[in-house]
Amino acid sequence: MNTKIIGTGYDLPAFTADNDYLATLVDTSDEWIVERTGIRVRHLAKEETTTSMAVQAARRALEHAGVSAEDIGLLIVATITGDTETPSTACRVQAEIGAHKAVAFDINAACSGFLYGVHVADAFIRSGIYRNALVIGAETLSKIIDWTDRSTCVLFGDGAGAAVLCAAEEPGILSQSIGSNGDKWEVLACQGRPNENPLCEKGGKPGYLTMDGQEVFKFAVKTVPVCVEEALEDAGVTADDVKYFLLHQANKRIIQAVAKRLGQPEEKFPMNLDQCGNTSAASLPILLAQMDEQGLLQKGDKLILSGFGAGLTWGACLLEW
Ligand code: ACO
Repeated sequence: MNTKIIGTGYDLPAFTADNDYLATLVDTSDEWIVERTGIRVRHLAKEETTTSMAVQAARRALEHAGVSAEDIGLLIVATITGDTETPSTACRVQAEIGAHKAVAFDINAACSGFLYGVHVADAFIRSGIYRNALVIGAETLSKIIDWTDRSTCVLFGDGAGAAVLCAAEEPGILSQSIGSNGDKWEVLACQGRPNENPLCEKGGKPGYLTMDGQEVFKFAVKTVPVCVEEALEDAGVTADDVKYFLLHQANKRIIQAVAKRLGQPEEKFPMNLDQCGNTSAASLPILLAQMDEQGLLQKGDKLILSGFGAGLTWGACLLEW
């Protein structure tokens, strides 16, 4: 039995902030941001929440797949910015869409979260435990960003993407290579709420996202080609056989460097980061859903999805569309 993606959907906040808008908040410029990252615009939540965007993306993916919410057995939301500490965003999405028969939980693997979700769903589907899974990546990163820190606030955006995965006879997910390195957790982190129990000192503040940008850059450029090659080798597929490499949309220069290391033309590396920024766990499913919507994906196409992020975490998934 194989696992196949049979429907995708995405949702983005209505408000868009261009680089000039950010230059009114911090000492930056459109020129610096475009040159160092490739980002021009990002969507920022005003009315939207992580849950509301996840619900919209999920509804669109289900409709596209022709699958009823009642038929979902497994519902996973990958997020680091849930609206509630508990319950999980997945349980809240479950209630909104009426996926009453699903087991629902969140995964925290930052920008690799969607791939981790696909990894888990694939294992459950292949083992015959569930037939249909809904995997969502949803983030409101704007609420954990320090809007006075120009080195991070220009990079991120909000949004959600979703995919319906189901058991299939025909080929779907061909191989995956996934990993974590907790030794490097401090490179990219966001502290949680301070402990206010009677034994602790008062006065702590909830944390904001902090990042050693150059460390993350080096890690991504080194790790992504390795896990992509592992996934290819495992399936006996060459990089030339792959139609598109969908990489986590963090930085245009990272994507270009990975393309070079893999010896593949940049045209095979679609990007939406100029319009969305880095939406963490939502980045890959939004890109996939947009390409699907634009009719760029044909049955039989081989695709690589690859992400990297806080943890540190990373992963690559080779699939046949
Ligand atoms: N506008 C203007 N100047 C800036 C800005 C800004 N927004 N941000 C930093 N600078 C300045 C710095 O202060 C520094 O000034 P100095 O030379 O006077 O000290 C200068 O620009 C260069 O800063 P660097 O950090 O060296 O710039 P770099 O070329 O490394 O680019 C960047 C920074 C874009 C963050 C890059 O390192 C990067 O993209 N790293 C990867 C980050 C990433 O992908 N993060 C997401 C991971 S996914 C996840 O899990 C959330």
